[in-house]
Amino acid sequence: MEALKDVRILDMTHVQAGPTCSQLLAWMGADVIKLEPPHGDATRGQLRDVPNADSLYFTMLNCNKRSITVNMKSAEGKLVFVELVKRSDILMENFGPGVLDRLGFTWEKIQEINPRIVMGSIKGFGSSGPYADFKAYENVAQAMGGSMSTTGVPDAPPYVTGAQIGDSGTGLHLAIGLLAALHQRDRTGKGQYVEVAMMDGVMNLCRVKWRDHQRLWRGALSEYSVGTHQGMGATPRAGNDSGGGQLGNAVRCRPGGPNDFIYVVVQEAVWEALARRIGPEVGMPGLATDPKFAAIADRRANQVDMWEIIGEFALRHDKREMMRILNDLNVPCGPIMSTEDLFNDEHVKLRDMMVELDHPQRGKWWNVGMPIKLSDSPARVERSPTLGEHNEEILREVLGYDEARISALKTAGAFSNPPKKAA
Ligand SMILES: CC(C)(COP(=O)(O)OP(=O)(O)OC[C@H]1O[C@@H](n2cnc3c(N)ncnc32)[C@H](O)[C@@H]1OP(=O)(O)O)[C@@H](O)C(=O)NCCC(=O)NCCS
Repeated sequence: MEALKDVRILDMTHVQAGPTCSQLLAWMGADVIKLEPPHGDATRGQLRDVPNADSLYFTMLNCNKRSITVNMKSAEGKLVFVELVKRSDILMENFGPGVLDRLGFTWEKIQEINPRIVMGSIKGFGSSGPYADFKAYENVAQAMGGSMSTTGVPDAPPYVTGAQIGDSGTGLHLAIGLLAALHQRDRTGKGQYVEVAMMDGVMNLCRVKWRDHQRLWRGALSEYSVGTHQGMGATPRAGNDSGGGQLGNAVRCRPGGPNDFIYVVVQEAVWEALARRIGPEVGMPGLATDPKFAAIADRRANQVDMWEIIGEFALRHDKREMMRILNDLNVPCGPIMSTEDLFNDEHVKLRDMMVELDHPQRGKWWNVGMPIKLSDSPARVERSPTLGEHNEEILREVLGYDEARISALKTAGAFSNPPKKAA
């Protein structure tokens, strides 16, 4: 039995941040009704690779959901929305600031309609503070949440990360908040409003950078290979330095292609074994007893030299061989996996992290699988819905409408855009 089997979610989210959250909850068994404007979530048509088919941007974030189109700017559409709110446990949205209020549905109004409902909102910057009125996308959140200023190398411009910490990261935060509020609702009978700001979510994911920010008040950051000093102000970009207590870096491997690197953590406990293995191969048989690298403080002070030695060793092996050699020595490490490497990786396959699906418009395609594995409720990944695929099913099954009522609502424009006026 699915963990969230009896939970119905009215999902007005769009683009990436909200749909990440609702897809996860759908994979945990919730009945997610994606309520879309008549023209659909904008991502259906963005970055299309197959003409006239829902894009991968959409299909990869909206699996296991049902789709209903409702024109929220028509009186009849609003009626349908109200009826769906009455029959849902969670309402979620990630519109720009004030959108639902302008449609006439403040949180107070939603609560009046259904006091048990939990409402989740994602905003760029939340509903309070000087930035509250601003829209946001992934990289805006990465810029404003501290991630960009701490990513990259110090003497070059800041970088965004490939992981979608602003969008998908915020979606994960929302999922946690919604489940907590639902748990409380089950105890008290009363829903509540759950808000996650993308900027706040990115700050949370950059927590250790504020550890370093405050350490700089007292002294330099000994683990950084870039120069730091007391009172330097902001946490600097640290290249590929490890962000923790152990030294780490990415070293280039044979044959030297763009992803031929391995990330190596020279954990305190493994230095001697590592030095014994690599020293003789790079003409330094005494490496393990060299006082320059004897204790972690020595290796921190001489880390540039240490990485050069490890780098020389790595250039003699490809990244998979390196992985084997280092894991045999119990050295924590990770080859830099390209999307192609991952797509063909045995481990990924065995953990169902690439799932093949079929779609009526686009045929076979692949989605990244469910990263949260519940022992009694394994996720079953099903394709995303086409636009309005479940209109009638939802109106009939969830709202109990008959043919005559559905047809009257259709005619009144509850599910479609009004025809364009002639110029
Ligand atoms: C992502 C974002 C920048 C997109 O901005 P946008 O394309 O202008 O979309 P908005 O959410 O601001 O507005 C949606 C519009 O569609 C309308 N709309 C939405 N659903 C509708 C429906 N079912 N029927 C009719 N109209 C609908 C809204 O009423 C609104 O119109 P308005 O501007 O006249 O009020 C913005 O939604 C945002 O900042 N969201 C919060 C942060 C976020 O989640 N960002 C990351 C996305 S991955």
